[in-house]
Amino acid sequence: MSAEKYAKKELLQLKGRAPTRVSIGPVEGLINLGAGDPDFNLPKFMADAVAEAIMEGYTHYEFQGDSEFKKAVAEYYSKYGVKLDAESQVLVTSGGSQSIFHILAAFLNPGEEVIIFNPTYHGYVRPIKYFNGIIVRAPMKKDEEGYFRPDIEALEAHISDKTKILILCNPDNPTGCVFKEDELKAIAELAVKHDFLILSDEIYNEFIWGNRRHYPIILIPGMMERTLVAMSFSKMFAWTGCRLGFIISGSELIEILSRVPMGICSAPVPFQKAGVVALKEGWEFNRMMREKYWERIKYCVERLNEIPGISCVTPEATFYLFPDISGTGMSSEEFSKRLLEEEKVRIVQGTVYGSNGEGHVRLALVKPLETLREAMDRIEKFVRKNIK
Ligand SMILES: Cc1ncc(COP(=O)(O)O)c(C=O)c1O
Repeated sequence: MSAEKYAKKELLQLKGRAPTRVSIGPVEGLINLGAGDPDFNLPKFMADAVAEAIMEGYTHYEFQGDSEFKKAVAEYYSKYGVKLDAESQVLVTSGGSQSIFHILAAFLNPGEEVIIFNPTYHGYVRPIKYFNGIIVRAPMKKDEEGYFRPDIEALEAHISDKTKILILCNPDNPTGCVFKEDELKAIAELAVKHDFLILSDEIYNEFIWGNRRHYPIILIPGMMERTLVAMSFSKMFAWTGCRLGFIISGSELIEILSRVPMGICSAPVPFQKAGVVALKEGWEFNRMMREKYWERIKYCVERLNEIPGISCVTPEATFYLFPDISGTGMSSEEFSKRLLEEEKVRIVQGTVYGSNGEGHVRLALVKPLETLREAMDRIEKFVRKNIK
């Protein structure tokens, strides 16, 4: 008997795990640059803060989220000039994935359209399908230097009277694009003109390079009432397994979000207490990670550009590289599959992020430099052997 007959019908189309989460079992000598799980462990003082919170008795229901944590979040976003009332404009979640799910649960009706860029983070696709939304892909375009940028005209052409939400991944995974202020202003104008909401996923905001700056779209006048910022501690403090995040927005949208019957606020209180400590004292740790990522990016970009058939821009943000491998004559699927089989380096094929990811692959630089050196050697060997 198949249990599928009991499944909610939306789940029938969602078989298997998300593409970057597929386990390939133990492969000896594998270098895994697939999932974006930072290789840094939580500093002891953050782990201690969890234990201390438990010992101090923060082990009870906290239906609305811990007030001290919400206050720390509001203070944190004030560094961008975003003014928030901690109690009415912050909603605690158990990480970025839940932030996204919660927003769609609150605002997306079946048949309504959600625009996502092509390419962009693949993790929006399944929740949209789960809520029976229609995915509309707005193409990004490459500039002369090879950077993917939002194409505002094309975006407008993809808006319809069914458009309910536009998802911005800013900074973007996998392209590393940081949306510029003028691009965000143009997008904000479209949101007002066509009356849709913005889900702004900003979870890489602490990993922006060079002189680019993070500019949250919610700051633009009129956007507080139509923007939901989805955030997570997963990358910021490398605690992907601890599960903590938050949503910030205007108080009316937060009130609607809070009606989603989750039962209780879904992040464990001891982690919220540790989150307060992290937001106060975690910046030295974050700076250390930034330095390491930047060192890795510089090294790998240089190495990749020396390989025939590959060109790689330095990302504006994130710890991902999204090199153009089309010059090797292989598709992104062939490249990533054969690299795994022949050289035991796991990366992600660009088409996972949308059809415009064809010709690209994503490398998550979540390994120490020595390992990345070995990975680059293997990629070079693989391409020199197989270039068409
Ligand atoms: C852009 C983006 N949003 C959301 C998530 C999910 O984050 P979390 O681990 O906090 O669920 C990820 C994870 O890689 C991501 O890259």
